[in-house]
Amino acid sequence: MHKQDIQLVRITSDDVELLLRLSRQTFSETFSPVNTPENMQHYLDTSLTTEQLRKEINHPDSLFYFAMRAGSAVGYLKVNFGTAQTELQDPGGMEIERIYVLKEFHGEKIGQLLFNKAMEIAREQKVDYIWLGVWEKNVKALGFYEKNGFVRFGTHAFKLGKDEQTDLMMKLTIKEDV
Ligand SMILES: CC(C)(COP(=O)(O)OP(=O)(O)OC[C@H]1O[C@@H](n2cnc3c(N)ncnc32)[C@H](O)[C@@H]1OP(=O)(O)O)[C@@H](O)C(=O)NCCC(=O)NCCS
Repeated sequence: MHKQDIQLVRITSDDVELLLRLSRQTFSETFSPVNTPENMQHYLDTSLTTEQLRKEINHPDSLFYFAMRAGSAVGYLKVNFGTAQTELQDPGGMEIERIYVLKEFHGEKIGQLLFNKAMEIAREQKVDYIWLGVWEKNVKALGFYEKNGFVRFGTHAFKLGKDEQTDLMMKLTIKEDV
C-alpha cells in the first residue's frame, strides 16, 4: 500500500458514531487479550460512549483525525492542549492521548502518518514538547514511540475497571526548524 492511499480527515461531532465504533474495536483488539472481560466492559461502558466522545470532540482544546482508506476509517488520532490534557496541563505541552490503527492494518505506516500529523500540529501550535502515557505492558506502542524519539520521564497509575495499571509517561522535545 502507498501512503497516498490514506487520507487524514478532521473528525467533527457528526462523526461521533463512526468514531465510537472504531474506538471500541481498536480498544478491544489492543487490550482484550491481556485484560479480563469485566474490566474491559467497564471501560467500554464508561469511557467509550457516544455521550463521552461527543463531549471530547467538542472540547475546544482537543483535535481528532481519522485515517481513511478507500472510504473506511482504519485509524484515528486524538491530541490535547491546555486544560484538555489529562495530566500536566502545561500550556507549552501537547498530549497525544490516542493513536489507534485497526489490527488488520498494523505495520502499513498508518500509525506513522497519524504521528506525523501530531508533529505537524505541535509545530503549528508552537508547543515545546509532546507527551503521552502508555501502558507499561503495551510493548508494541512503546517500541513505536521510542522509534519516534520519545523518552520516559515518569509513571502514573491508571485504573482499568478494578485493575490498577502503570502507564509510562513519555516525552519528545520539539526542536525549532532550521
Ligand atoms: C502503535 C501503532 C499505532 C503503530 O501503528 P502502525 O501503523 O502499526 O505502525 P507503522 O507501520 O506506522 O510503523 C511506523 C514505524 O514504527 C516502527 N514500529 C512499529 N511498531 C514497532 C515496534 N513494536 N517496535 C519498534 N518499532 C516499531 C515501524 O517499524 C516503522 O518504522 P520504519 O518506518 O523505520 O519501518 C499500532 O500498532 C496500534 O494501533 N496499536 C494498537 C493501539 C495502541 O496501542 N495505541 C497506543 C496506545 S497508547
